[in-house]
Amino acid sequence: MATIIAWQPEFTALVVAAALFSVGCAYLADGPQTGATAQPPLKVLAAKRGLNIGVCVSPEALRNDPGYGKLLAEQFDIVTPENAMKFAHIQPERGTFTWDDADQIVDFAVQHGMKIRSHTALWHHAVPEWIADGAFARRQWEQIAKDQIAAIAQRYGDRLTYWDVVNEAIADDGQLRETIWLKTLGPDYLEKAYRWAHAAAPNVKLVYNDYGAEMKNAKSDAIYAMARDFLDRGVPLHAIGFQMHFIKSMPDPRKIAENLRRFAELGLELHVTELDIAIQKMSGTRAEQLEQQADLYRRVMEVCLSVKAVTVFQMWGLDDGHSWVPWFTKQPDAALLFDRDYQPKPAYHAVTRTLAEFQPDADADASQTCPVIADSVK
Ligand code: G3I
Repeated sequence: MATIIAWQPEFTALVVAAALFSVGCAYLADGPQTGATAQPPLKVLAAKRGLNIGVCVSPEALRNDPGYGKLLAEQFDIVTPENAMKFAHIQPERGTFTWDDADQIVDFAVQHGMKIRSHTALWHHAVPEWIADGAFARRQWEQIAKDQIAAIAQRYGDRLTYWDVVNEAIADDGQLRETIWLKTLGPDYLEKAYRWAHAAAPNVKLVYNDYGAEMKNAKSDAIYAMARDFLDRGVPLHAIGFQMHFIKSMPDPRKIAENLRRFAELGLELHVTELDIAIQKMSGTRAEQLEQQADLYRRVMEVCLSVKAVTVFQMWGLDDGHSWVPWFTKQPDAALLFDRDYQPKPAYHAVTRTLAEFQPDADADASQTCPVIADSVK
């Protein structure tokens, strides 16, 4: 005869404890996809620091390679379409919009509870021929730019958290870059673009994104002046994206921190948007290069943890098999956290450790110099 036992509160505690134990065992047994560590995923460690951590993504890889999506969802909580939301991809012919690739990424992100940063509405690269060769009146150019922004906002709206509305509009000398948009819309096109984007997607945080502005220089001075002016005049701007492609050179992390702090004082969010650290210029064996790279990743993460306004930390690619660096430099490289077999590299462990252990204190990095890629560190 079956004995019925009344459920006691302590049973609940036992069941919960057993369940937690079995989850813990399963986690340790399987480990994360990354295999070599029992550390929680990057996104869990980063969340404790008030950071979203992510990468740019390729829709082809999401479609064709289950391992890619698995690692992405396991480790990261924010994505940027590497190319799929650029002008040429979304509107290759005038009035013909192609959303499949961007949809693929947005759907994946939503399904896995990840944030999305849209990238990028107005840029001088990745423009379709009908724009590059276009001969339109000024009023038509305005409509074209405004329509592109409105189309993205209508399609994705509040599913986006951030949006690089304009990308790389300022040249190294601090002047507005000579782009198709400057030429056709005039110097106030940035302001207009941010106002259009805000009107079309009022809940999305708008970002200005650029490279080579990581330390104080003519370009970052100009971005700072623009941001300050926008904030003073109520032009909607919420964050600055610092790309951080460290391929031939990397600024001293102390100088990065110093620069980020002045932007933080404006009350903006700061994002690392496209970090990669190339190894091809580093000396030593491959293993030594990867250790040097790991150390630099550590130091960039330390800077970010030292500046509270930094809320997003993104690499430009999930793994070394999906990196633009070899294509750009025409040299083999390995600039990211995971190798092409999705195995974690020393850089991954360095970022993990830093997220778990680093305790920022004022000017913690001040006494260190940056030894790697030393010929170009300024
Ligand atoms: O992979 C193909 C190759 O098979 C083909 O032979 C070759 C011919 O040109 O093209 C290769 O694809 C190129 C792809 O990069 C490789 O990653 C595309 O042509 C090229 O247009 C594409 O460039 C993209 C670039 O932006 C221009 O849109 C890169 O993927 C992308 O990583 C890069 O991203 C930019 C950010 O948007 C802004 N900041 C800088 C960053 C790096 O340039």
